[in-house]
Amino acid sequence: MPDLPEHPREATNSPMSNGSPTVDDRLMLGSRILDLADNLAHWSESTGALTCTFFSDAHRAVARQLRDWFAAAGLASEIDPIGNVVGRMPGARPGARTLILGSHYDTVRNAGKYDGRFGILCALVVLESLRGTRLPFAVELIGFSEEEGVRFATPYLGSRAIVGRLDAAMMNVRDRSGHRLGDVIAAAGHDPSQLPSVARKPEEVIAYLEVHIEQGPVLLNDNVPVGIVTAIAGGVRYALAIEGEAGHAGTVPMDARHDALLAAAEIALLVERRARLEPGLLGTVGRFEVPEGAINVIPRRCEVSLDVRAQDDDVLTRALADILAESQAIAGRRGVRLSGRELLRKKAVPCAPHLQQLFAASIEKANIPVKRLASGAGHDAATFDGFTDIGMLFVRCGNGGISHSPLETVTAEDAGIAAQILRDTLVRMGTWVEPRTSS
Ligand code: HGY
Ligand code: MN
Ligand code: MN
Repeated sequence: MPDLPEHPREATNSPMSNGSPTVDDRLMLGSRILDLADNLAHWSESTGALTCTFFSDAHRAVARQLRDWFAAAGLASEIDPIGNVVGRMPGARPGARTLILGSHYDTVRNAGKYDGRFGILCALVVLESLRGTRLPFAVELIGFSEEEGVRFATPYLGSRAIVGRLDAAMMNVRDRSGHRLGDVIAAAGHDPSQLPSVARKPEEVIAYLEVHIEQGPVLLNDNVPVGIVTAIAGGVRYALAIEGEAGHAGTVPMDARHDALLAAAEIALLVERRARLEPGLLGTVGRFEVPEGAINVIPRRCEVSLDVRAQDDDVLTRALADILAESQAIAGRRGVRLSGRELLRKKAVPCAPHLQQLFAASIEKANIPVKRLASGAGHDAATFDGFTDIGMLFVRCGNGGISHSPLETVTAEDAGIAAQILRDTLVRMGTWVEPRTSS
């Protein structure tokens, strides 16, 4: 494992020395974020690609590394029972309420280095540069253990535990090898019965802020380094199973077949067709599998995932109803059986206007155009809806904005700008937030 990048020198000058952050401070912050992301990317479940899913050996090594970096930054740090890495900086006054900063460190398969991790590392680098500065409120930096929902097909486990929305029944969810979530947690040395104690109390939390790569081309096309998120799209995820009849590829006539795969193929094309009907509506079939597939056997069973998203909840609900109804009609025509299980339903979540304004003031002060945009991707921030106010800042992606791909890229300059905006926002919040204690 490569040596840890050197702990940063204190910023060569005070971060807000002349009222606006300096360029060398910006590049120092930005290149440190990218160095740390490179370092974390060394731990992977797959050779030649970055895959880091819930409680794999790679995932647990990344958690330990983050915990050590949090501690080196002066934060009281720990790994909680669901694998969240938590670093805490006390407020200037005992009992001060807490601002939560965070994002996720798990990844999709064959991932980029910055999805989720950028937000954790940006906040870490900012807290490093604020070392010795006592903000009136406490700060918790949380690296969430499971946002993508790759291993257990159920996303946001880490942030759901923090807001107290992870019920005990969840412990019985199984991954594709049949391992039970509760057993995986216990095998990692944690106690699932302790999970309720992870939940924070809303009255003790000021807000939740998340910095994340945009995962799209808007900031790149508008040539701006950062953007303020106005809302996070709502989405529904389904697991569909189509059951037809197996048969010999060489003897069953074409008009006598009940081919599960072909029905699933029609459904996948239906999803695309329906999503194209309305702007902002997105439909994706990301998994398409024939569990017992063989070259000379007519597919009996096909398992298909469905991911439908929209900024408007009514558009989403209508589109889903249409897709499910038309899928049943396809199944009927083909003499196969269709069943579905809803895995996730999240409504569209607005970002708090006063937090958007806080980011905007810092962006303006840095003489950067203020750009507001909605997020098509889901984020841990959406889990905090109804628990506390949420704010999100996007940083520009290169390579056409590609993400969920090793081609994900961010420049040191843009990374540094995002860090300076976050830092200025925290310092500004210190003047804005009454140091009200939570008692
Ligand atoms: O699927 C999403 O939008 C996020 O990357 N988990
Ligand atoms: Mn992602
Ligand atoms: Mn993400």
